[in-house]
Amino acid sequence: EAVLNRRRDFADVRVLVTAGATWEPFDPVRILSNRSTGKMGYAVAEAARDRGATVTLVAGPGELRSPEGVRLIRVETALEMRDAVLANLPMHDVLIKAAAVSDYRPAVVHPSKVKKAEGPLTVELVRNPDILMEVSRHRRPDQVIVGFAAETEDVEKNALEKLRRKSLDYIVANDVSMAGAGFAVDTNIVTIYGRDGTALALPPLSKREVADRLLDVIRDTPGKVGA
Ligand code: CTP
Ligand code: CA
Repeated sequence: EAVLNRRRDFADVRVLVTAGATWEPFDPVRILSNRSTGKMGYAVAEAARDRGATVTLVAGPGELRSPEGVRLIRVETALEMRDAVLANLPMHDVLIKAAAVSDYRPAVVHPSKVKKAEGPLTVELVRNPDILMEVSRHRRPDQVIVGFAAETEDVEKNALEKLRRKSLDYIVANDVSMAGAGFAVDTNIVTIYGRDGTALALPPLSKREVADRLLDVIRDTPGKVGA
């Protein structure tokens, strides 16, 4: 496996990766966001690069450095991420959507800082577009589209439902309530489900190893990039 991974088996493959959370502004100083740090997506981008791929990384805000040899597009909001993904999708063979996109954004973005008042504050949130649902309407059949599913219960059922609903080739499911999986840690415990009914349950691995195992699965998909 390690020897295989040192091969440039993704040369001539163009991989688009999304990573991190999105920030949804409420006013100039406040945002709605989530606990994603981008580590999983950055690991995928670096693994694909090391295997010879041409990599574009669409990354939400965060502290992670820009990986060398990767085209980095920084975005803040889900709407910006959607525009960056849809604009770049046609030039790529593989999309790996590791980002934790905020499902909602504040309905109103106040132009100046909201001052506190007596009593509670009610903030209206509106739905963000589901980027993978839009991708499913624009993708070519030769492209490989991979989603991630962060779940805290009914992991398999929820992940398979997302795989079908979003017409994905694969979904990488992880139980973010488990120690050693999910946000802000360097390891992950995932199962990779395929549209063909396959399920690959991986042991606890570094995010980099998860990324390489995912790339192995993508490379071995008949009729796609690995053929
Ligand atoms: N996703 C997306 N656009 C969104 C929300 C999610 O493209 N607005 C993508 C994520 O990048 C991920 C996959 O969809 O690859 C699954 O995200 P997840 O949050 O687990 O699923 P949701 O469909 O948003 O469902 P829920 O949060 O209700 O579980
Ligand atoms: Ca979601």
